[in-house]
Amino acid sequence: MEPGLFSKELDTLREKGLLRSLVATSPDDSGRVEIDGKRFIDLSSNDYLGLSSHPVLKEAAKNAIERFGTGSRASRLMSGDVFLFRELEESVSALKGTESSLVFGSGYLCNLSILAAISGPSDCIFLDRFSHASLVDGALLSRARIRRFAHNDLENLFDMLEKERHRYRHAIIVAESIYSMDGDMAPVYKLVQMAKRFNAILIVDEAHALGVFGEHGEGVVERAEAEKPDIMVGTFGKALGGYGAFCACSKEIRDYLVNKARGLIYSTALPPSVLASNKAAVELLDTLGNERRKLLKMASDLRSFIKKELGLKTRGCSQIVPLILDDVNKCIMLEKHLFDYGFLSRAIRPPTVPKDSPRIRFSFSASHDSGVLASLKEALLSFFKR
Ligand SMILES: Cc1ncc(COP(=O)(O)O)c(C=O)c1O
Repeated sequence: MEPGLFSKELDTLREKGLLRSLVATSPDDSGRVEIDGKRFIDLSSNDYLGLSSHPVLKEAAKNAIERFGTGSRASRLMSGDVFLFRELEESVSALKGTESSLVFGSGYLCNLSILAAISGPSDCIFLDRFSHASLVDGALLSRARIRRFAHNDLENLFDMLEKERHRYRHAIIVAESIYSMDGDMAPVYKLVQMAKRFNAILIVDEAHALGVFGEHGEGVVERAEAEKPDIMVGTFGKALGGYGAFCACSKEIRDYLVNKARGLIYSTALPPSVLASNKAAVELLDTLGNERRKLLKMASDLRSFIKKELGLKTRGCSQIVPLILDDVNKCIMLEKHLFDYGFLSRAIRPPTVPKDSPRIRFSFSASHDSGVLASLKEALLSFFKR
């Protein structure tokens, strides 16, 4: 390769304040991370329940390593379908109240694989405009027609479906129950009705709802609900403190995906230790009602503070709290200011979010103590009221 081929593009990103870089961290079990010898309160992780360092999960992973070794040795359709997959899938189906479920290597892989497997050039995918990159990329890979409806705007979706549904073999509606960068909730049950009315397949990604919402931690779509989305995606890498993902669905869809989902067929199965700790996490969820309440209370306090005390924009109703600004450079200055105060909270910039709404995305963990919110408010006041 000719040296410097990509330097110009990197320089452009740097000039626009959009250059990304990796920071090596060393996490502990109190929702903090160490960077270059300094400790920070981590307000950027998705370890919402603090399960990544839970002793029960660690024990499960250690035991699985002792018994089965470190790797799964093959893809699931070869010899990698360790029986722990079955056990994990049974506990996921029970959690979500579905007939069946299927575990994938990660949420990205899961979304990519599902969309590419169930749709093709004769189909249309109706995607919420704020959909996660894995859903957008899956839609692109499928070669289906893609239509983006305005965020959480059911009228807009209805109009599109009414005008265009008849042109396609399958219509697929895609939404997230809790949006990762705005922390707001989709009108999931209205989407279920909409999908029914237009004979569409509904996929709801519960990545940020799993563990945090629902009486049992099952997500926004309640276990007992009779009419659910056709496919619900959940990830183990966020509130469940592990790695990997699942789709909860009918047996028919599961059988189809086992045959068609390329991210399952052509990728090495998750290691046994990860399966074991994921299962331990799913089984713990029912006991974590207090953690869920604490988390959502901290987030709602911060949202009120941003609106009332700072007079700034925020959104949502979940553990994810965006502080929305209109200027990327101000966002980077705030990120730096908070860093100096001992907080790791990341500036989220375009293209991850729209150009006019860069933001700091705060996410709490139930392992944060009560002083975290008070000192965060102090740090924010000293930036905005100076
Ligand atoms: C809504 C949503 N879906 C899927 C993913 C991808 O999941 P994973 O990190 O397991 O690849 C993410 C990750 O941030 C997400 O926010």
